[in-house]
Amino acid sequence: MPSISSVALSALACLLALPTADAVPTGTTYKLTQNNVGTSFLQNFDWETTPNSPTGRVAYTTQQASLASNLTYANANTFIMRVDHTTTLNSSSTVGRQSVRIKSNAQYGTHMAVFDIRHMPQGCGTWPAIWEADDSVGIVNGELDILEGVNSLSPSYTTLHTPGSCTLSATRSQTGTAVYNNCSSSAAQASGNNGCSVSSTTSNSFGPTFNSNGGGWYVVERNPTSISVWFWARNDKTVPATVSSGASSISTTGWKTPLAYFPSSSTCNLSANLKNHNIIINTMLCGSWAGSRYAASGCPSDCISYVNANPSAFVNAYWEFAALRIYT
Ligand SMILES: *[C@@H]1O[C@H](CO)[C@@H](O)[C@H](O)[C@H]1NC(C)=O
Ligand SMILES: *[C@@H]1O[C@H](CO)[C@@H](O)[C@H](O)[C@H]1NC(C)=O
Ligand SMILES: *[C@@H]1O[C@H](CO)[C@@H](O)[C@H](O)[C@H]1NC(C)=O
Ligand SMILES: *[C@@H]1O[C@H](CO)[C@@H](O)[C@H](O)[C@H]1NC(C)=O
Repeated sequence: MPSISSVALSALACLLALPTADAVPTGTTYKLTQNNVGTSFLQNFDWETTPNSPTGRVAYTTQQASLASNLTYANANTFIMRVDHTTTLNSSSTVGRQSVRIKSNAQYGTHMAVFDIRHMPQGCGTWPAIWEADDSVGIVNGELDILEGVNSLSPSYTTLHTPGSCTLSATRSQTGTAVYNNCSSSAAQASGNNGCSVSSTTSNSFGPTFNSNGGGWYVVERNPTSISVWFWARNDKTVPATVSSGASSISTTGWKTPLAYFPSSSTCNLSANLKNHNIIINTMLCGSWAGSRYAASGCPSDCISYVNANPSAFVNAYWEFAALRIYT
């Protein structure tokens, strides 16, 4: 028999979950361990030719094939991943529009990553995403979606998915809006999605506005006590010099409040929920999110027909990275 009633236990959990978890830990200095600029992406990432999802409309290409077709392009200072923007697709065929999905060869636990992004895929039907997970095992090792959105609609979303129990306070030290606070992958929401999702409050965090600014920096810090994600637009003069210059070491001490903050607490043990992760960068077309939100986004026709028939609509459906710096 339990010696404490379950009512008392849940009252205790509530008390523990609130203010104690709210401080962003600072002071850790991380060292640059992988500086991905231009052609180094080709060495440090795997081109995933994972099968298309049943509701998506992409065909992922190998590194060799996508370099030959220029869907992957790298020189000394830039790295680009595109979607095919010249081929009209056969609507009777199950083969989707060619796209690129890459995954870091290495996996990371405690780390920081600075994504210096010049351009992200935009347009109706597009679902650009950068996330951390081990997709060889799936949600059982947890997942952090650093940045994603659909159909050019601002803002971006940052979401933590956990295999086990994890609930967060709605009021945390973050500038983004907590959309949902039960991170458990089995916690079904009315919308059908799940995870602890945080939406940015600035339109320059995603899509055409992000791109017309020349992009910006997304930065993630993950350690056993918390996960934080920051965003600075390209023209934001407050970006830390360590972020914009690609410094050889980095610390978040003195930084602004993050866009999204997921503290470890008695109601959410991050170490128990998250194992080591690869970094994955993808351009999806249609699929469960871009497809289901397609009409509501004000896009024409239906997602798959539009992707099939309008190659030139995907000319801006590309990622361009100045750098991806990984610190451990
Ligand atoms: C490949 O893409 C790059 C970057 O956009 C561009 O500069 C180059 O001209 C393209 N190459 C070809 C053969 O189209
Ligand atoms: C379109 O795809 C269908 C099914 O794969 C195939 O039977 C047909 O020949 C294709 N048409 C063209 C013009 O390639
Ligand atoms: C979170 O979701 C899980 C799975 O549906 C559920 O068992 C749990 O009670 C939820 N937690 C809270 C605090 O609502
Ligand atoms: C959190 O999970 C880790 C890994 O399972 C475990 O070692 C640790 O004791 C847990 N912490 C708490 C406070 O339960």
